[in-house]
Amino acid sequence: MEVLGIKTDLIKIGDDLVKALNKGMREADLVLEEGDILVVSESAVATSEGRAVNLDDVSPSRLAHELAAKYSKDPRDMELILQESDQIVGGIPGVVLTMNKGFLYPNAGIDHSNAPPGYVVLFPSNPQKSAWEIRRRLAHDKKIGVIIGDSRTHPLRLGCMGVALGCIGLKPVEDARGQKDLYGRPLMITRKAVADNLVSAAQIVMGEGDEGVPAAIIRGAPVPIQDVNCEIPTIPPAECMYIGALKCGPHPYKGGYDDLIKEAIIAAESAYAPYSNFRVGAALLGKNGRIYSAGNIENASSGVGLCAERAAISKALACGQRQFNALAVVADTTQPIAPCGICRQTLIEFGEEIVVIMANLKGDAAMATAAELLPSAFTGKFLKKADDSC
Ligand code: THU
Repeated sequence: MEVLGIKTDLIKIGDDLVKALNKGMREADLVLEEGDILVVSESAVATSEGRAVNLDDVSPSRLAHELAAKYSKDPRDMELILQESDQIVGGIPGVVLTMNKGFLYPNAGIDHSNAPPGYVVLFPSNPQKSAWEIRRRLAHDKKIGVIIGDSRTHPLRLGCMGVALGCIGLKPVEDARGQKDLYGRPLMITRKAVADNLVSAAQIVMGEGDEGVPAAIIRGAPVPIQDVNCEIPTIPPAECMYIGALKCGPHPYKGGYDDLIKEAIIAAESAYAPYSNFRVGAALLGKNGRIYSAGNIENASSGVGLCAERAAISKALACGQRQFNALAVVADTTQPIAPCGICRQTLIEFGEEIVVIMANLKGDAAMATAAELLPSAFTGKFLKKADDSC
C-alpha cells in the first residue's frame, strides 16, 4: 500500500478544490488509478465551500457569553459553537465537547488553525455530499473512493488520529463479526473502522500544519471499491463505552445472580395481580450495571396483562438502556418459573446471549440463555437483505 500526498497551492475561501487538486497532481505527475482512495482534509473542503466566518461578524448571545466565561473561550467562538451543534456535552477550560447529528466534536469542529487571519473554519455542511461531488468530478469513469478526513484525540491518548466525516465508494466500517479469531472462536463484536484507519494513514503524509498537503492518494489498500454511498455510522450514546462509563461511573452492580434473584423477589411485591394472585418478579441487569425490576401487571381485561419480564424490559427501554447481561425471574412455584413465549420473543430482540435465571421462592434455580429458551428464533437478522450495503 502506498500513500501519496498531493501538494496544492493555499486553498482560499471559495477556491475550486478539485481544480487545485488536479493542478497539484499534474505538477507531481500523479494520476488517479482504478482502486485508489483519495483522502481530502475537511478544512480544505470547508474553506473551498466558503464555510469560513469572520469573527468580527459574529455577535454573541447572552448564553454564548455565559458559556464562554464558564469554559474560558472567546464568546464569538462560543456563539458559533452553539449555532453549529445540537448539544454541548461538557468541557474543560478552552474546549467544549459538542454533539451534532450523532457525532462528537471538540468545539463543534470549528477550527482556528489553517483559517485565514481573523477567520475560523466551520465543518463542511454535508461531508458525505462533498465526498460524492469530489468523486463525481475526479473519477472519470474510474472506480475510486473518496473520504473527507479530520483528526481527533481519543480519550486519554495524546495526539490526534484520523476520523472520516464522509465516505463514498467503500464501506466505512467492515463487519468482522463471524470471522474467526486466532484460536478459531467467532469474533463477536469486532468491527473495523476502515475509513477512519485510511484517514490516519493519509495523515502521515498530510500533516496538520503548513505542509500544504490537503489530500493524499492511498494506492493498493486491500479495500474493495464498490458502488456504495454509506453515511459514516454512529452508535447511540447509551451504547458507547466511553459515554456510558462516564455517565454511570464505575459499574454499580457488584452482586452475582443470587443478588439478582433477590431483586426479583422484591419486585414481585410490587406485582399487580388481583385476578390470578400469582405474583411474579423480574430483575433485568443492564450492561450499564443497573437493575430494572418489575412485577406482573394484570388487567380486568385479561389479555391486556403484562408479564413481569416484559414490564422490566419496558422499564429499561424507557430509561434508554437496550443492552442486557441477565434477567432473573421468580415466583412462588414448585419448580423454577419459566418465562412465557411472548417474553422469550421480547427478550431475544435484545440479545441471544442474555442469561435467564429462573427461580422460585424455595431457592431452586435454573439458567439458560435467551437463545436456548427460544431456539431458531425469528429475529431482526431475517429482515436484513442478503447484502446490506452499509
Ligand atoms: N406471568 C409472568 O409475569 N411471567 C411469566 O413468566 C409467566 C406468567 C404472569 C402473567 C399473569 O399476570 C400471571 O403470571 C398468571 O399468568
